[in-house]
Amino acid sequence: MIIDPKTFERFNLILTGVVVPRPIAFVSTRSTDGVVNLAPYSFFNAVAYNPPTLVFSSSRKAPGWDDKRKDTLTNIEETGEFVVNVVVDPIAAAMNATAAEYPSDVSEFSIAGLTEAASELVKTPRVAESPVNMECRLVQVVDIGEQPHQHGLVIGEIVRMHVRDDVLYEGPNGWRVNHQALQPTGRLAGNAYCRTDDVYELIRPSYSQGERLPEERAPGAGRAAD
Ligand SMILES: Cc1cc2nc3c(=O)[nH]c(=O)nc-3n(C[C@H](O)[C@H](O)[C@H](O)COP(=O)(O)O)c2cc1C
Repeated sequence: MIIDPKTFERFNLILTGVVVPRPIAFVSTRSTDGVVNLAPYSFFNAVAYNPPTLVFSSSRKAPGWDDKRKDTLTNIEETGEFVVNVVVDPIAAAMNATAAEYPSDVSEFSIAGLTEAASELVKTPRVAESPVNMECRLVQVVDIGEQPHQHGLVIGEIVRMHVRDDVLYEGPNGWRVNHQALQPTGRLAGNAYCRTDDVYELIRPSYSQGERLPEERAPGAGRAAD
C-alpha cells in the first residue's frame, strides 16, 4: 500500500504504529498557581549531547474539552521549566493513570499515588518512584500545524539529572546504564507497550576517509558503539 498522509483516514494510527517502540517522557510541570501536573508523552527523544537537549511534542488542545489546552504545554510556556521522568515497568500503570484529560486544578501525582521529590534547580517536583529524572529549562516551543491539530514541539535543556545508583554500573570507559535494572517501558501503538527483555548487540563498523572499503578489510573489524 502506498499512503498519502493528507488523505489517508486516521493516518495518525499508522504513523504511531510504525515509529516504535517509543520512549515515554513522564513530564512533571507546575502551574503559575502552584498546581503540580504529570502526564505521559511518547513523541519524545534526546536530540543532542552538548547542550544536553531533549524534545517532546504535545497537541495543544485537550481531547474531549471544548477549549481546554493541555496543562503540560501551558505550564511549560508560562514557567519555562519541566522535569522528564523516565517511565519504567514498575510505574507503567501509574503513568497510564495520569493520561486522562483531568481538569487543570487536579494533580495527577495524587491520582496515580506517586510521590513528589524536590528538584535541585527547578521548582517543579520530580517523580520519586522513577529511577531517572531530568530537570529541564525550556529552550523553545516550535508550533507545528494549525488548530485543531496543532502541536507544540518542546525543546528543553537538561540542567540536572538524577539517576538511581542501582541502574548505573562502572564499565571500562566510564559509567553506563544497566537496562535490566532500569526496566524501561516502550510504547507501541494505542494501548500496547513493550519491555526491553530481548537485547542483542551489533558491533558498529567504522570507516575513516581514505581507508579500504569493508569487503577489502579483515572480518570483524569494528568499534564499540557510543
Ligand atoms: C503512553 C502515552 C503517551 C502519550 N503521548 C502523547 C504525546 O506524545 N503527545 C500528546 O499530545 N499526548 C500524548 N498522550 C496523551 C496525554 O498524556 C494526555 O492528553 C494527557 O491528559 C495530557 O495531560 P495534561 O493536560 O496534564 O498535559 C500520551 C498518552 C499516553 C498514555
